[in-house]
Amino acid sequence: MRNIIWLVALIVSFAFAGTALADGAATFKAKCAACHGPKGEGMKGMAPAQKGNKFITEGKPEDIKKIILEGRAGAAKKYKEFPIDMPKSGLSDADAADVVKFLQGDLQK
Ligand code: HEC
Repeated sequence: MRNIIWLVALIVSFAFAGTALADGAATFKAKCAACHGPKGEGMKGMAPAQKGNKFITEGKPEDIKKIILEGRAGAAKKYKEFPIDMPKSGLSDADAADVVKFLQGDLQK
């Protein structure tokens, strides 16, 4: 009986850990907002805006996801006014896809 209770507790905690990261908005807050700003408004000298950015609003989800997974550095960099690289996020493919949904959806509202 005791073992079953522990097992259920374990499964529930895993389920919660899963949903926390599957939420694109929460992932953005935890992993992106420090550079791109809490509302995706960008930060001077740090990182470009996500809100109102055509690469986000009109871009293909796969292209955006690729940058989240692989980063953008060195010769591939697009913005001279932001000297640092876009780092690899370390997110799973599914979590990155959820962030893209958030970037193209709720963030633009
Ligand atoms: C350490 C700061 C930093 C963090 C953290 C960061 N970024 Fe970036 N990001 C940058 C910089 C700098 C660039 C601009 C790179 C360039 O010059 O091309 C960038 C570029 C991008 C671009 C391309 C924008 C464009 O207009 O081409 C996307 C999309 C992006 N970031 C998404 C994210 C997401 C999503 C996260 C969180 C998972 C994240 N970034 C976390 C610094 C950061």
